[in-house]
Amino acid sequence: MHNLVLFGLIICVSSGLTYKQDTFTEELLIKPLYSEQLYAHFQFSTKWDVDLDVEQFRHTHIFPRALGEIIERHNVQELHVTLTEGLWRYESWGYPIEDAAPGAEVWAWFKPDTIDVEKNWKLLANSLSGLLCASLNFVDPSNSVSPEFTFKPKGVTLTQNVNNTFLRYATLPREIVCTENITPWKKLLPCDSKSGLASLLNSGFIHNTRYHSIGLHLRPVCREDACQHMSLELQQTVSLVYDYAIMGTKNWSLKKLFGQAVNGRCDLADKSEIYVDITSKVSNDFNLEPKPDEVVTSIRGGQVSTFAKYTIKNYFMSIHSVSTGDKISVKAPPLLHANQYVTGYGQERGGIVTKIYNNHWSSLDVVVLQNIPWYVPIYLHTLKVISDNKEVQPLALRYIPGKQRLKPYYVEVLVSLPPRSITSISVDFDYVFLKWQEYPPDANHGFYIGSAVVSSYLPLARNFTGLPQDGSTIADSFNASRSGYLVQVRTENMVITLPTPDFSMPYNVICLACTVVALAFGPLHNITTKRLRLKVKNNETILVKLKTKVINKIKGVFSCTKDNDDKPKKE
Ligand SMILES: *[C@@H]1O[C@H](CO)[C@@H](O)[C@H](O)[C@H]1NC(C)=O
Ligand SMILES: *[C@@H]1O[C@H](CO)[C@@H](O)[C@H](O)[C@H]1NC(C)=O
Ligand SMILES: *[C@@H]1O[C@H](CO)[C@@H](O)[C@H](O)[C@H]1NC(C)=O
Ligand SMILES: *[C@@H]1O[C@H](CO)[C@@H](O)[C@H](O)[C@H]1NC(C)=O
Repeated sequence: MHNLVLFGLIICVSSGLTYKQDTFTEELLIKPLYSEQLYAHFQFSTKWDVDLDVEQFRHTHIFPRALGEIIERHNVQELHVTLTEGLWRYESWGYPIEDAAPGAEVWAWFKPDTIDVEKNWKLLANSLSGLLCASLNFVDPSNSVSPEFTFKPKGVTLTQNVNNTFLRYATLPREIVCTENITPWKKLLPCDSKSGLASLLNSGFIHNTRYHSIGLHLRPVCREDACQHMSLELQQTVSLVYDYAIMGTKNWSLKKLFGQAVNGRCDLADKSEIYVDITSKVSNDFNLEPKPDEVVTSIRGGQVSTFAKYTIKNYFMSIHSVSTGDKISVKAPPLLHANQYVTGYGQERGGIVTKIYNNHWSSLDVVVLQNIPWYVPIYLHTLKVISDNKEVQPLALRYIPGKQRLKPYYVEVLVSLPPRSITSISVDFDYVFLKWQEYPPDANHGFYIGSAVVSSYLPLARNFTGLPQDGSTIADSFNASRSGYLVQVRTENMVITLPTPDFSMPYNVICLACTVVALAFGPLHNITTKRLRLKVKNNETILVKLKTKVINKIKGVFSCTKDNDDKPKKE
């Protein structure tokens, strides 16, 4: 009896604990940018205190089970997926909270005991493709690389030294992001899109924006400061950039941006908040209605920001902003940004140039990662780093040549950018002929080369909005001064036209051949099937014919005279 009570107690306590094991927070940050845009970022984060080594993902509370099963099956330690439409304009918009390359981008760290990373990666991509309804199934070893410097684990690792053989990174620059991706993504949220901030995510309003990006970031994190235990953290993000020119006005409201106001919070959320960045009020004044619950000041890496904070209550709530003053402000570009373009003309030789701008007064060390498809063979000896018209030697260079149809070209360059300089990294490539089945249906559209990733630790947090590595919510980024701020600038995609065979030729040949056949067929058919026969001479019939002819003629003459007789009578 005693034992039974104890047993019951244990069950109660442990089930109570499981119930408290996960926390969910939902946040929205609205930031008027210094240029003519408005940035809205949704941050949903789920933290689950779970023992990752024994968990089977059979019972989950808030954490999405579908995702849990995928990471369990493929032995994934950390996973990052973003689907983006549009390009983030670093030079005029500053830094986003989450950097994302145009199209689809996936990178994952597998656990160090994974036996066949290649196979797990392929299967993981296929599962994610089903989960998010995206074409991630096109991710395979022929477009994936294992960068050594650029992507370090963002979460906790068990060992001190991480080995990049367990890392895979791939982009699909041609991927188009649409409603069919956001719908399954919303299903991973505990309240779906029925209540809370997720109810603001209406496809019609998301896809009208200048830039939109959805993300899924999963990593193990420390449960407490001492880091004795691990927890699993899932961050789901949506970033939207609205253009005032498209909206027609600088006055915005939740209804205008998202089609509806917030109708209460998600009941499962521990925290449900909206922040409006009011730092830019000094140049573009605006008034918020209703008044915020609190005004929060954050001093971070030399940048002072102010936020209006709204806590979502369990009733209908909207926020309006009325623009009042409009002063002309000088837009200062952020410390680091980059561009990428193709050089050369014709379809024989070409080059790729990555231009990196350092606007800081001291030098910056950056890592540039290029993942170049196998059908663009580059020549390493032509790789040049030129800074202010002087050639500089890279601090480190990693290069793995590609193999046709098997492996992309991987280049990672570590360079030190001189203070206030423009550095360009250029490399030459050849255009190749593909097999005719390897061309996409619209071959003349061109082939995409994914964006380069320029990573750096900035000493100042100017224009930086990212979350600190140890934080998972927007609130964690307040007063989060650190020794460096990691930015990973993605450049634009490039399109090149490979030598394309004339795919209309078979059609022309078919048309020509058909015409010839049609013209030749008629006479030939006639000649071969029709028999030439002489007509039988029949005297009797000729006589009869002659007789009728003569009779007809005579009849005609008679009627004619009759007619002539009648006519004058009538007159
Ligand atoms: C970066 O921040 C500074 C103020 O800290 C501002 O003046 C500047 O316009 C910002 N630049 C961009 C591109 O947002
Ligand atoms: C990384 O792992 C691979 C395979 O397990 C091994 O061959 C390689 O030596 C490791 N590299 C480092 C730096 O530990
Ligand atoms: C914003 O709204 C106010 C009041 O409705 C109006 O006076 C003002 O012209 C509007 N501003 C813009 C930029 O449309
Ligand atoms: C950040 O630090 C400033 C100055 O120390 C303080 O006034 C402010 O309340 C802090 N903000 C938060 C969110 O803790």
